[in-house]
Amino acid sequence: MSVVSPSVTVRAPAKVNLHLGVGPRRPDGYHDLVTVFQALSLHDDITVRAAPELTVRTRGEGAAFVADDQTNLAYRAAVALAAWANHGSGLDIDIDKAIPVAGGMAGGSADAAGTLVAVAELWKLDIDRAALSALAADLGSDVPFILYGGTALGTGRGEQLVPVLSRGEFHWVLALADGGLSTPKVFAELDRLRDGRPEAGPGEPARPDDLLAALASGDPHAVAPLLYNDLQPAALGLKPALRRTLRAGTEAGALGGIVSGSGPTCAFLCADQDSAVAVAAELAGAGVARGVRVAGGPVPGAKVVDHG
Ligand code: C5P
Repeated sequence: MSVVSPSVTVRAPAKVNLHLGVGPRRPDGYHDLVTVFQALSLHDDITVRAAPELTVRTRGEGAAFVADDQTNLAYRAAVALAAWANHGSGLDIDIDKAIPVAGGMAGGSADAAGTLVAVAELWKLDIDRAALSALAADLGSDVPFILYGGTALGTGRGEQLVPVLSRGEFHWVLALADGGLSTPKVFAELDRLRDGRPEAGPGEPARPDDLLAALASGDPHAVAPLLYNDLQPAALGLKPALRRTLRAGTEAGALGGIVSGSGPTCAFLCADQDSAVAVAAELAGAGVARGVRVAGGPVPGAKVVDHG
């Protein structure tokens, strides 16, 4: 008889940035941001169980493009938590992906956040939210938000978070692109575009008060024209085909469209669920995306969904 050790499964959401204001490049290479995140109902499921060694296995959307070695953010999350807890790091980490890889939707960050929550539960660690957030921020700028979920204003590198009042459910269509974009390359392209136009050099990014008011009203018609992403020109420069995708989404009836984070996924805000399904069908037929998903937001952050 084989004995299977107990497992914990965590569901971790994708994110979209409804607003992404990027300040100048800092001496440490990062950029100060003012961003509004929303967690979406497109999830990776992360299952962990005790094992002799630390291994990561990935299946699902884009799994072939994920390195299952020490560079994997889930692997690094397990190592970081083991060091914090003074615990051996022997674990099997199984990741079932739905979030596009290198898609600008925090897929790697979701796997890291999911691993932190799952392993803390498996080992019954007494770790508070602040300590978990600090570990998360060391792993990547978006990881704390994936723990947090909902809708939030992010500052600093994006890791300093306060909740944003958001009424009702927003309906999104996500257009997945062929191939990914490297986040550092997109930020570097933005720096290059700005260096060529010093007169347009950025100041400190401002808080998007109009968008925050629109989110509180819950009216997607008010939110859509306020979607904004400083990284979008850089992402479009690196992947010009995305211009067609963005145009096709609004022509199909979306209220607004934007490149998600550093791209290349494009996110379209729709009036309601029926409209989102119709926009998704039209985009799928238009040949401007590798795949199309319908998702709602906001949803909760990474949370335990199963004990095996
Ligand atoms: O924090 P994370 O590892 O996800 O960031 C990946 C890369 O994205 C950084 O190395 C940096 O090039 C860029 N980045 C940035 N400013 C931020 C967040 C990320 O320049 N606030």
